[in-house]
Amino acid sequence: MSKQLFSPINLGRLTLKNRFIRSATWDGMGFNDGSFSPAQIELYRRLSKGGAGLLTTGFIAVTPQGRRNFEQNLLCNRPQQQSLKKIVDTVKREDVALLAQLVHCGGLAKSEVTKQATVAPGNRQEPLYEETPKALSSTEITDLTVKFAEAAARAREAGCDGVQIHAAHGYLISQFLSPCTNQREDEYGGSPENRARFLIAVYEKVREYTGADFTITIKINGSDYFNDGLECPESLKTVLRLAELGLDGVEVSGGNPISKPLTPIPQAIKARENEVPFRDEISAFTKSLSIPVAAVAGIRSPETAKELISRGVSLISLCRPLICEPDLIKQWQQGREEPARCNSCNRCFIPAFKGKGIKCMKKP
Ligand SMILES: Cc1cc2nc3c(=O)[nH]c(=O)nc-3n(C[C@H](O)[C@H](O)[C@H](O)COP(=O)(O)O)c2cc1C
Ligand code: SF4
Repeated sequence: MSKQLFSPINLGRLTLKNRFIRSATWDGMGFNDGSFSPAQIELYRRLSKGGAGLLTTGFIAVTPQGRRNFEQNLLCNRPQQQSLKKIVDTVKREDVALLAQLVHCGGLAKSEVTKQATVAPGNRQEPLYEETPKALSSTEITDLTVKFAEAAARAREAGCDGVQIHAAHGYLISQFLSPCTNQREDEYGGSPENRARFLIAVYEKVREYTGADFTITIKINGSDYFNDGLECPESLKTVLRLAELGLDGVEVSGGNPISKPLTPIPQAIKARENEVPFRDEISAFTKSLSIPVAAVAGIRSPETAKELISRGVSLISLCRPLICEPDLIKQWQQGREEPARCNSCNRCFIPAFKGKGIKCMKKP
């Protein structure tokens, strides 16, 4: 295994012990009140012993209205913050860093869960949404930047090393970035600069509330793979602007739940040539940015991880392989050469949708 994969790297003021990240993973195990459960503490205990230098939490909603399911964590009050601190304390025992991923699901939130109308950039029933949303007013948009910032400040106080702002996969920030879901005619819609305004305002407010020494990254789609969706040149331009403003790193993903041919959780990764389906976008980002770029999706073999690092990617982010084998990275470090056992079948969602949490259900 290449030494570089296990060499330290800085992400803002934070030093990571190696190049591996556990990508944000909703685990379907949060309590209905939004706090972290003992089952989640146990999950993070196992992950923190598994070799990754950085763990990212699953998407945590910054307001109850931004929530998509009953098991999704929230970070809006003191008890939720205290439960997150238990995750931090567990992870810190192993010299592993932790980012809290912050999200508002917007038009992908569920009113059955939130008991409120869903909100989005516009009030059209989009193919992406399951419900017809209410359009956010500009005052509500400003209020939401504060909700992100307050959640980030809570994460910092709980001991997290940083936050990741979720701007990918068709959730609220992504809905603002994408022309297909943003037909606003005010300063938040229309031109690329206007569609990026909400994300930039969220970033600036989070920075204001957390300080210069707190690590802030984003996860963004290199491409939406969707009709009239966000495309790579525009996404990259937005991230270049954020980097000028002090963003510490970016994880490049792609797609939304109904995009084609690629969703954020691509299936059929059966051979090396299928690995890293967002390769072109990742490569465009690494060529233009001086902040660390994390590659995500479909990375399954140590060879591919090495190749990405040799091409300028700073960090390797894995999700499903660590559901299947939480200690995979430790095994790779100890010399295992085989790729991850995960076959990208996505059967791990089956128990989670029955309220029993994410679990590898690979057929033998
Ligand atoms: C069970 C599950 C839950 C996920 N939850 C999140 C999430 O909360 N936030 C996020 O940004 N991505 C989430 N993802 C996407 C992953 O972070 C990752 O981008 C995607 O699975 C591709 O990486 P992989 O091929 O290593 O699994 C999730 C994926 C899975 C399978
Ligand atoms: S159920 Fe399938 S996709 Fe999920 S972790 Fe197991 S092998 Fe991977």
